[in-house]
Amino acid sequence: MRMDKDICKVMFNEVELQGVCKRLGEQITKDYEGKDVLIVGILNGAIVFVTDLMRQIDRQINIDFMSVSSYGSGTTSSGNIHVAKDLNSDIAGRNVLIVEDILDSGNTLMFLKNYLMAKGAASITIVTLLDKPSRREKAITADYIGFVVPDEFVVGYGLDYAQQYRNMPYIGVLKPEVYSK
Ligand code: IMP
Ligand code: MG
Repeated sequence: MRMDKDICKVMFNEVELQGVCKRLGEQITKDYEGKDVLIVGILNGAIVFVTDLMRQIDRQINIDFMSVSSYGSGTTSSGNIHVAKDLNSDIAGRNVLIVEDILDSGNTLMFLKNYLMAKGAASITIVTLLDKPSRREKAITADYIGFVVPDEFVVGYGLDYAQQYRNMPYIGVLKPEVYSK
């Protein structure tokens, strides 16, 4: 029981999600010719996306994970971010590809970009599956974007509401009554 009943609209189905991973993976493969890549997946939201995307990148890659949390309420994040799980690897001199589920206010990715830069990465590139530009608070853009989405709260394919719905194979719009009650 994956609670599909709480979804009011399918935004991206499984075929569309596989297609976008292929498109991004092929582009990254081209752009990183002759370079090795360190993927930093952002837990927990990016878990599904990063595992699909990495299989479409035909380069030598390593993978590591970080988990950050922000003290936000309900469906919004705050600028107050802390590292809940840090990297295991040394990223000095590496070409880092941050892989995130969604770029919303930009608080999370702004923090991460600065944090990883300070650790001496050779380059930092942002890949986000979804981009919600209408809600941006920080001047940050992603280098690779799967889909630009309107200002609606979406779940599935790794994205959650209150830690639920991550296991849905598609991305759907959550019924507003689920988070307004
Ligand atoms: P930001 O710091 O506001 O850019 O938010 C980034 C984080 O907020 C993402 O990693 C998500 O965990 C979460 N988030 C923002 N919008 C959504 C959404 O529509 N659905 C699920 N999570 C979201
Ligand atoms: Mg997240």
